[in-house]
Amino acid sequence: MASIAVCPGSFDPITYGHLDIIRRGSKVFEKVYVVLLNNSAKNPLFTVEERIHLIQEVTKDIPNVSVDTFSGLLVDYAKSVNATAILRGLRAVSDFEYEMQITSMNRFLNNDIETFFMMTNNQYSFLSSSIVKEAAKYNGRITELVPPIVEKELRLKFQDDVEKS
Ligand code: PNS
Repeated sequence: MASIAVCPGSFDPITYGHLDIIRRGSKVFEKVYVVLLNNSAKNPLFTVEERIHLIQEVTKDIPNVSVDTFSGLLVDYAKSVNATAILRGLRAVSDFEYEMQITSMNRFLNNDIETFFMMTNNQYSFLSSSIVKEAAKYNGRITELVPPIVEKELRLKFQDDVEKS
């Protein structure tokens, strides 16, 4: 049986923290589907198409990674691609409660799909899409935190905002 994992997230936008987990996951699992899902608690800056494009661009050199999007439950998507694993990154203790809740809910919904966590590299332990957007909004340095194409798109987003205001 092939080891297939889904790496879910809202990726608004993808950061080097996400990419680190995807890259390391691609060495453990035979196939990794990076799947963009809706997080109902978040109001995204980038459209689904924009986020997918950015994920595709920055993962295109990893042969066993595919990028997809799905409106619905993560476990239903996982089943549709025959994945038996969910891959998530864990940055700090502060992530634990949230991850515990969604892991338990996913297990409740489908007991055949196991969630695996990878500790984020220390250099990205403080990194989140939200904190990058905050820095970019006020023209802060984000070069070491996101791939160049993501930095470019963030700059354009916030430049548009300045021009509109
Ligand atoms: O990057 P995020 O925002 O922390 O990712 C959260 C995400 C998108 C993985 C989570 O909200 C999710 O799985 N959404 C899809 C709906 C679902 O299956 N929710 C979990 C069980 S209710």
